[in-house]
Amino acid sequence: MDLADLTRELEELQAQALLAVDEAADAAALDAIELDVLGKKGRLTGVLRGIGSLPPEDRPRVGAVANAVRGAIDSALAERGAALRSSELRTRLVREAVDVTTPGRPIRRGTLHPINETIAEIAAIFGQFGFVVYEGPEIEDDVRNFQMLNIPPDHPARDLWDTLYVDVEGHLLRTHTSPGQIRVMHQEQPPIRALLPGRCFRYEAIDASHASEFFQVEGLMVDEGTTMADLKGLLDQFAKAMYGADKRTRFRPGYYPFTEPSVAFDVECVVCGGSGCPACSRSGWMTILGAGMVHPVVLQYGGLDPERYQGFAFGMGVERIANLRHSVGDLRLYMENDLRFLGQFR
Ligand code: PHE
Repeated sequence: MDLADLTRELEELQAQALLAVDEAADAAALDAIELDVLGKKGRLTGVLRGIGSLPPEDRPRVGAVANAVRGAIDSALAERGAALRSSELRTRLVREAVDVTTPGRPIRRGTLHPINETIAEIAAIFGQFGFVVYEGPEIEDDVRNFQMLNIPPDHPARDLWDTLYVDVEGHLLRTHTSPGQIRVMHQEQPPIRALLPGRCFRYEAIDASHASEFFQVEGLMVDEGTTMADLKGLLDQFAKAMYGADKRTRFRPGYYPFTEPSVAFDVECVVCGGSGCPACSRSGWMTILGAGMVHPVVLQYGGLDPERYQGFAFGMGVERIANLRHSVGDLRLYMENDLRFLGQFR
């Protein structure tokens, strides 16, 4: 082997390596070429083993050629590597591209349950008169649900509420939101203006107009010098806000053990306008709530001095109001959670 042979072998090695680099399809192929040609046991080292048989003065020249070959292959590897990386990136970008102009899939919006929507409307109206929303528990004790509301055990007035009892001594599912009156009086000092929405329970045979679960909104105002005229003015404003400024209203005598005097509050029929129709049993009036002046005994149970404070309270059934707002004829619809029904309210 002389200088010319070795040089030719090196040049051939370079030519083959450059061709292979050119044709390499990915980074792994480049790594294989690098190892095969430039690696410790690679072909370049193999060729250079022949250097020992050359005369000493030729050796540096072969060394120079070998360095040039190594340099050329190295930079070809680097260049091809960079090119492969950028085309891999481009392919990936194309593959993973998101078309931001595609219209989105519409998200179905939820709606308020008509009962919640009605409660919100009631609260908004009374909110304008300074009433603040409170809540009491659905499981009450007999004391607050009845006794502190002037309904002693075994009193015949208990027949007004068909009660569901809980398997814990002295507890029941509240039959009305009125026990909330006691809770608010224990918690706040007058002047009190409280609104208490909530779910109530009664033992009922269920049909289109009877439910064992229903909602009420309770109102309580306690202050010095509160009168029946304040109650009537407030309720009249409520009816006008809810059903129209032209609606007439009236009080009729009523009975509740916890209010004295007690009244039923009527609004001119919202269906026929007062001329008489099936919805108002041809009377021209609809009863929308019960109310009255808080009984002095109840104020006392609430920890307030009835000589100093007077109050009024009212309680209304939310389903009845929602029925009129949305022309719903069957109470059971409110509890079934059928989206075909619920989706009709916005
Ligand atoms: N709690 C009564 C009912 O359930 C309604 C009511 C509340 C009446 C407040 C007067 C005062 O029928």
